[in-house]
Amino acid sequence: MREVEKIGNVENHYEVLGKVDEGGQGDLFLARDRRSGERVAVKLQKARDLGPKSIFHSAGRRLLEEGNRMMMLTGVQAIPEIIAAGTHRGRQCLVMEFVQGSQLQDILLAARPVRHPGTVASVVGQLCEILCEVHDRNLVHCDLKPENVIVQPDGRLRLLDMGLAITAGEPTDFDRGTRGWASPEQSDACPSGLTRRADIFGLGCILLEMTVMRLPYGGLEEWAEPGGPVLPADRLAALPPEFASLALWMVRWEAEERPADVREVFDRLRPYLPEVGSRRPSKRLRPDPTEYYRTHPPRL
Ligand SMILES: Nc1ncnc2c1ncn2[C@@H]1O[C@H](COP(=O)(O)OP(=O)(O)OP(=O)(O)O)[C@@H](O)[C@H]1O
Ligand SMILES: [Mg+2]
Repeated sequence: MREVEKIGNVENHYEVLGKVDEGGQGDLFLARDRRSGERVAVKLQKARDLGPKSIFHSAGRRLLEEGNRMMMLTGVQAIPEIIAAGTHRGRQCLVMEFVQGSQLQDILLAARPVRHPGTVASVVGQLCEILCEVHDRNLVHCDLKPENVIVQPDGRLRLLDMGLAITAGEPTDFDRGTRGWASPEQSDACPSGLTRRADIFGLGCILLEMTVMRLPYGGLEEWAEPGGPVLPADRLAALPPEFASLALWMVRWEAEERPADVREVFDRLRPYLPEVGSRRPSKRLRPDPTEYYRTHPPRL
């Protein structure tokens, strides 16, 4: 496996500008290549808190592993390109392509519920195209959620955050994912390993969040339990008929009962994808994910 290039102190090569965002594991800074002037993103591990030094070191190691997983996805255009790993003020960091656009999370919060079939199919369809490439490289992303998706100004989706990605089938010894979005098999150790069906569950959550503003099995409010209702009756009734059976199939509790592959999901969305050259929807998201299919034929 090719490893990410290590460059030591990033300040020797890049001028680190302001902080633009933060996640649970890292802070995101904008930086400038001192030679070319190109803008890059620097994902910096969180500062050491009062906890033991060993925890800080293992967080740094995990960030480096994330960089190596991004190397495995080199050439997948929707994943930001990884450039290097380095250090900044004693913390580990990754240097990567800076993706311009808006978090899907912010776009959805401003517009939910989103029920226009072409828009729903454009968001979930683009994510299927991206996941197909990730899964073909035998990786499972494990952290699908609207915060980890950026919509570019031209309507193209990009998938971020390989922090929890793992080789398909590799046993896990603790929970892995974000509560509410993670599949049941991610909520604990999974000795048989996670599969692409874990990502299909997360993608189903995005579909539900967009259309009925609710995560399955009680979402963030309750601990999910087997046998519980997927959605309260009013939300179930509100599911758009075009996507109702697909959404419920994607979030089946048992992984084996979900679609086996994102291509199967994509086939169910295909009738609703906007045609190349078609007009934009009258009520659209900004940026508008339908623009991608109105200008590109589907890749699956
Ligand atoms: N390459 C990038 N270009 C532009 N913005 C980015 C990039 N990478 C990350 N971001 C922004 O920074 C935020 C945090 O990054 P990321 O999700 O990778 O961090 P994290 O700490 O692993 O997140 P989590 O909270 O999911 O654990 C993202 O939600 C996104 O808005
Ligand atoms: Mg994240």
